[in-house]
Amino acid sequence: GQIGKDGYRHFMEKELHEHPLAIGQTLQRITDPTTRQLVLPEMPFDPATLPRATITACGSAFYAGMVGRYWLESIARLPIDIDVASELRYRNPPQPNQGMALLISQSGETADTLGVLRVLKKEQQKIVSILNVEHSTMGRESDLVLGMVAGPEISVASTKAFTAQLSVLAALTLTFARKRGVINAQQERELTNHLLDLPSRAAEVMKLFGAVRVMARVIAQARDVLYLGRGICMPIAQEGALKLKEISYIHAEAYAAGELKHGPISLIDPSVPVVAIAPSTILFDKTLSNLQEAKARGGRILAFTDAKGAERLSDIAEHLVILPDVDAFVAPILYTIPVQMLAYEVALLKGTDVDQPRNLAKSVTVE
Ligand code: G6P
Repeated sequence: GQIGKDGYRHFMEKELHEHPLAIGQTLQRITDPTTRQLVLPEMPFDPATLPRATITACGSAFYAGMVGRYWLESIARLPIDIDVASELRYRNPPQPNQGMALLISQSGETADTLGVLRVLKKEQQKIVSILNVEHSTMGRESDLVLGMVAGPEISVASTKAFTAQLSVLAALTLTFARKRGVINAQQERELTNHLLDLPSRAAEVMKLFGAVRVMARVIAQARDVLYLGRGICMPIAQEGALKLKEISYIHAEAYAAGELKHGPISLIDPSVPVVAIAPSTILFDKTLSNLQEAKARGGRILAFTDAKGAERLSDIAEHLVILPDVDAFVAPILYTIPVQMLAYEVALLKGTDVDQPRNLAKSVTVE
């Protein structure tokens, strides 16, 4: 039947609240109930001998792919080439024998991503697609579909599909790592448990709307915003900047925090808020010193962090949103949620058409 807003003001608000469900259902479908091991369908190639993979997508799905690159390279030891579909389509890079192309798309209909699918199929690559709409054109043309179970996503700006995509990518990483013999059973068990705990951590994050709203008041007054992240949280900074642009029409840019000093630091003044995605993982100290540099130049620092990070950030940050402690492996999934909430709260303050932002379409089926 007709999909309603269930009492929420916007589909985006409703869909933000569905993150825990989208992650949970997606993982449940691929969790063996007896062993609690993540089990994906048989691949149309042998992951143990896979020489390399290409990842491609558009928009938010591309940033999910960027997180996937970090995981697949660092955990599954698989070399990755990644690019946005509209570029990859015409780049004509050499492809390996027996390679894999990993496509990510909520709709399964995005013209650029479909264009790459057809190009790489001609190059004999095996096509594996991570899709929310499995009965779609990409679904039909792929060698293997890995379904997300996010449910219909109505808001033009993607929310729950993103964390569902990441959940599939994380499961794929663990499966490949196991088959490539680069992870032992105990490491796999620990990482799997971190993933399976995520729906409850995500449910706790829903209580942060109020804290995010305070931060949103600063952002709503800005003309330009800088999002900073490092390592695996860099794509989450990119997702945050994209979401803010899409629905609040405020200009935002994401930068790798370490790259700040090579250019964008010249933009910093009190009118350009700096939003940091800063869980207290291995790169935290480096991010902290980048933020201190920004603060010293008059920047207003806003940060998403955990309790441990908050202790170190409290001197320099004007507002902190404090998330539950999670392992670095799953941090990008959890941190996505408040970063998307921020864009939503800013859009509310700006009074924009949140679910149907100007000039955008849910699924771009023309080139
Ligand atoms: C559009 C939407 C984005 C989405 C992108 C890719 O541009 O506005 O939110 O991320 O398409 O869509 P797909 O369906 O391929 O994930």
